[in-house]
Amino acid sequence: MRDTEALARQAEAFFSEHPGVSLMALGAGEHAESMDLSPLGLPATYLPAERNLELATQYLALNQFAFGGIGVPRWVLSDLYLMPGAIGLLRCPARMLKPELRAHLGLADEEPAIGAAYYAAPSMTPGLFIGVSLLSFLPGTGAGAWVKTLTLRMLRATRLRGVAQWDNPSVRVHARLGPLRLVGRVPGGHEYGERTFVYETDLSDGARVAEAMERRLSLEPTRRIAVTDLPALSALLDRAEAGEALYLVPPGVQDGHVLVREGAH
Ligand SMILES: CC(C)(COP(=O)(O)OP(=O)(O)OC[C@H]1O[C@@H](n2cnc3c(N)ncnc32)[C@H](O)[C@@H]1OP(=O)(O)O)[C@@H](O)C(=O)NCCC(=O)NCCS
Repeated sequence: MRDTEALARQAEAFFSEHPGVSLMALGAGEHAESMDLSPLGLPATYLPAERNLELATQYLALNQFAFGGIGVPRWVLSDLYLMPGAIGLLRCPARMLKPELRAHLGLADEEPAIGAAYYAAPSMTPGLFIGVSLLSFLPGTGAGAWVKTLTLRMLRATRLRGVAQWDNPSVRVHARLGPLRLVGRVPGGHEYGERTFVYETDLSDGARVAEAMERRLSLEPTRRIAVTDLPALSALLDRAEAGEALYLVPPGVQDGHVLVREGAH
C-alpha cells in the first residue's frame, strides 16, 4: 500500500476529537491472527464472538433497528458474518447515543455501546471484500466513514465491492474512500432493485483514500443525474455492465444529483 501517513494522522485526529470512542473487531476467535489489529498504527481490540454474546446481541438489535424488514437474521449473523469474518466496531459509552436508542437497547449512560459498525464479507478473490452492512449512530462525527475505512484496513482489503441505493445518505460516506466505479446491478436481484447499484472502490492507494476522506480529491463530473431519475440511472448501469468505465466521483451525491464521470479518473 502506498503512503498511509496522511490517513493515519486523520484517523488519530478522529479519535482525539471523540474521546471514549475505541476500535474493536468482533468475530470468531480464530480470525484474530489473520487481521491487522494495528490498522494505520492505531490500537484495535479483538473480541472473540464465542465469549462476547452480549455484544453480538447488541449488534443484532442495532442492525435490525437500522434496516427494519431487511435487518440481519440471527443465523445469518453467526453463519455468514461472525464465522467467516469479523465486524468492525466503534465502541463508545451509551450516553453518546440518542436517548431513544439507549432506551431501546436498555443501556445505562456509562455502559459500552456500539456507536458504529461495518461488516464486509470475504470473497473468492484474494484482497476483494464485499461490503454488507454499514451502521452509524453518531451522526455528524464522520463515524460511518471511519468505521468503514478502519474495518477494511483490519481486513487487509485492497478492493471493495458494495451495494448502495442512489438516494441513501451512505453514498456520500462510501465516496469518502474514493471514486466509486459503477459495476452494475446486484447479482441475483435486491429488495430495492430499481434504485440499487453495485460499485467498486480501489483501496490500494492510501494517499488517495486520505485525499478523498478530507474531500481534497476533486474530479470534475461529466454528468449530474437526479437520484430520482431511475430511467437515466438504469441506462447508466447498462453502460457499466457493458464494460464502460463510469465513476461516481466524490462527494458522490450533491443537491439530490449523483455526480458521474465518464471515462478514466
Ligand atoms: C448511512 C449512515 C451509515 C451514515 O452515518 P454517518 O456516516 O455517521 O452519518 P453522517 O452524519 O456523517 O452523514 C453522512 C453523510 O450523509 C449526509 N447526509 C446525512 N443525512 C442525509 C440526508 N437525510 N440526505 C442526504 N444526505 C444526508 C451528510 O451530509 C454526510 O455527508 P458529508 O460527510 O459529505 O457531509 C447512517 O445514517 C445509518 O446507519 N443509516 C441506517 C443504515 C443504512 O442505511 N446504512 C447504509 C446502507 S448499507
